[in-house]
Amino acid sequence: MEYRNDTLKTIHERFSCRSFLSEKIRSDDLAAILQAGLKSPSSENRQFWRIIAVEDQALLDEIEQESLLNFSRYIGRPSQDSTIFYKAPCVIFIPVCSGRVISADLDCGIVAQTICLAASSLQIGNVIVGMSKFAFDGNKKEYFSRKLRFPEGFEYGISIAIGYPKSFRAQHKSDPDKAWTI
Ligand SMILES: Cc1cc2nc3c(=O)[nH]c(=O)nc-3n(C[C@H](O)[C@H](O)[C@H](O)COP(=O)(O)O)c2cc1C
Repeated sequence: MEYRNDTLKTIHERFSCRSFLSEKIRSDDLAAILQAGLKSPSSENRQFWRIIAVEDQALLDEIEQESLLNFSRYIGRPSQDSTIFYKAPCVIFIPVCSGRVISADLDCGIVAQTICLAASSLQIGNVIVGMSKFAFDGNKKEYFSRKLRFPEGFEYGISIAIGYPKSFRAQHKSDPDKAWTI
């Protein structure tokens, strides 16, 4: 398919990647993704978010295990998946200071999408992982917040697993009935 420019091509080709190579993300690629995230718009430009890239696999495993444990505790059944980060070599966490601004969650989502599109533009696989919230809802909330160095007053917002993709696939099919012009 022909796209009118590279930005539109990236938007149309982005997909949630759930299969990653173990290879670490090149530092210039990671820096470009983080810098793009920092360019996100936010309500009154308050930037009540932080962007934290975690490559420490032992820590990611701990967060993953705690998420799966709390998922089964709160939802009452085990998760169908045995992984939430899909063995990605890096997970980006975006904590927010929700007490200070009512649009914190919205601002956080905008950062997440900026990061996903920046990663996709570099052919780096990415998937937003809301499941990791379960790790920050239980007994280990303070422990993980400290480990990730969340500033005072900041709480888990969302996470994004990124890595070079093992395989590519199409994103969801768009439904033209869900957008209109008046
Ligand atoms: C807020 C949010 C949370 C999500 N959490 C997860 C998740 O925990 N695990 C997962 O595999 N995908 C997660 N996704 C990805 C969606 O499943 C995915 O975007 C959707 O199925 C559409 O597929 P596409 O992104 O490939 O177009 C999440 C997406 C959003 C926006």
